[in-house]
Amino acid sequence: MKTAIAVIGGTGKAGQYLVNQLLLQGFHLRLLLRNPDKYHLHHPAIQLIKGDVLDPMALSQLIPGCDAVISTLGSGHPPIFSSATHGIINTMQAYGLQRYIVITGLSIDVPGDDKSEWCRQASTYMRNSFPDIIADKQREYALLTQSTLDWTLVRIPLLEQTTSTGAYQANLHDCPAPRISATDLAVFLVSQLRDGTYIRKAPFVASVVVSSLL
Ligand SMILES: NC(=O)c1ccc[n+]([C@@H]2O[C@H](COP(=O)([O-])OP(=O)(O)OC[C@H]3O[C@@H](n4cnc5c(N)ncnc54)[C@H](OP(=O)(O)O)[C@@H]3O)[C@@H](O)[C@H]2O)c1
Repeated sequence: MKTAIAVIGGTGKAGQYLVNQLLLQGFHLRLLLRNPDKYHLHHPAIQLIKGDVLDPMALSQLIPGCDAVISTLGSGHPPIFSSATHGIINTMQAYGLQRYIVITGLSIDVPGDDKSEWCRQASTYMRNSFPDIIADKQREYALLTQSTLDWTLVRIPLLEQTTSTGAYQANLHDCPAPRISATDLAVFLVSQLRDGTYIRKAPFVASVVVSSLL
């Protein structure tokens, strides 16, 4: 049987690239969508689930039977990251799923960080500009650490929606560069389905060389 991945946020700036990469690598997908009628990518390997991530019923339709969950959820105000994480953790634990991969920003602090000057400044800027969002994302990290899941919280800098790709680097202590190609991010996220290196860790990932494939 093909591996099935539950995807949250698959219509977003990062999520669209993730969906394409999962399809390219032969995975079956279950996508949680608030507005499936507006979704125009039809593919035999994609199953659409209508619902909101904050609705436990929607999560209980999305998650059972999948092998892992990947979230590229975004949020307006008020931020929903920690409440979404709470529901996702509960549902995954209820249905016996272990692997959860989720993205966040570089401003999230984790024990062992050794952020360089530009990364500290960027973190401070984000914290001052979006205090409620960053505080909620920090709560998301705390919830993950308190869970028993095999989570990976992927910390990213500015996302560039591009098929350009090249070398990316992951680093547990500092962000390697100020940008990430959405294609590089998607490749990294999918690689984590079969790589346990960053289980229960929060690596930074960034593109260090970008060369256009187009
Ligand atoms: N973009 C960047 O430069 C950047 C940089 C650093 C970190 N990040 C982080 O990366 C993550 C994703 O960012 P993004 O820019 O790709 O986000 P985005 O383009 O705003 O996409 C957000 C996604 O979340 C979905 N969503 C929002 N609320 C939902 C809900 N209640 N239920 C179900 N789905 C919901 C949206 O679905 P709909 O189609 O229904 O709206 C969409 O698919 C965020 O945590 C963001 O903070 C982004």
